[in-house]
Amino acid sequence: MLPKIARIQLMSSHPQVYDPCDDSFALVDALLADRSNLIKHRPSICMEIGCGSGYVITSLSLLLGKEYSGGAYYIATDINPHAVTVTRETLESHGCHAEVVNTDIALGLEKRLARSVDVIVVNPPYVPTPEEEVGCSGIAAAWAGGENGRRVIDRILPVADGLLSDKGWLYLVTLAANNPLELCLEMRKKGYASRIILQRSTEEESLHIIKFWRDSDVLMDANERVTVNKTGNGMASESAAFSPFSIWRRGNQNV
Ligand SMILES: C[S@@+](CC[C@H](N)C(=O)[O-])C[C@H]1O[C@@H](n2cnc3c(N)ncnc32)[C@H](O)[C@@H]1O
Repeated sequence: MLPKIARIQLMSSHPQVYDPCDDSFALVDALLADRSNLIKHRPSICMEIGCGSGYVITSLSLLLGKEYSGGAYYIATDINPHAVTVTRETLESHGCHAEVVNTDIALGLEKRLARSVDVIVVNPPYVPTPEEEVGCSGIAAAWAGGENGRRVIDRILPVADGLLSDKGWLYLVTLAANNPLELCLEMRKKGYASRIILQRSTEEESLHIIKFWRDSDVLMDANERVTVNKTGNGMASESAAFSPFSIWRRGNQNV
């Protein structure tokens, strides 16, 4: 039997809330593709930052399965208060439960959840836009990413680093214009390995779903790579490492 995910017919909506779109479907497809690893991972706390309509957090809860979902605590945040209401309704119509918080990224939750979240999923506002469009609380917050689409992403990554447990995984949607390679290198400096687990091109955009996880080996390896890059032949190896399904790590291949 196919694993369950959120059903469009059961989704709640609001004119000021982002409806599930190609990026949301790509993220859920990536989670589905990684489902057996997620189940083995046995997350205690799963979190979505920027939950919108609730499609992703509901799907995550469903795809982990009713039996297992009972073992995990789910939290979702959104800066848009209408998204909080819609997510609660979507969860309820699917028989799922999560704590849904109206906040900026994880403001007010960082102390309580420090180093304890095992899975974070994020489909952030990633579209390059004028800076003044970033940070509003309505529907524009769903896509407005400022310069290179990175304004909100660059704020989310350090917060995620503070929240993720030692075995924590982060799944992030990015656009080619966000420079995903640079994001991976930034996270590498913080000790994260990364891998593109799904790449999808539509007429409008080229999406990458990147999975990050802590790996003590990468800190040293990151320094080596930066050195190689400076010699001038690093780009070739970085590009190769960034191809779909590439693995930026050593050791355990099951992540
Ligand atoms: C691209 S939409 C994704 C919605 C949903 N996760 C999905 O995949 O369909 C981005 C979401 O992030 C929310 N958001 C934007 N900036 C935020 C911030 N600083 N803190 C929390 N949520 C934010 C938006 O309100 C929007 O709901």
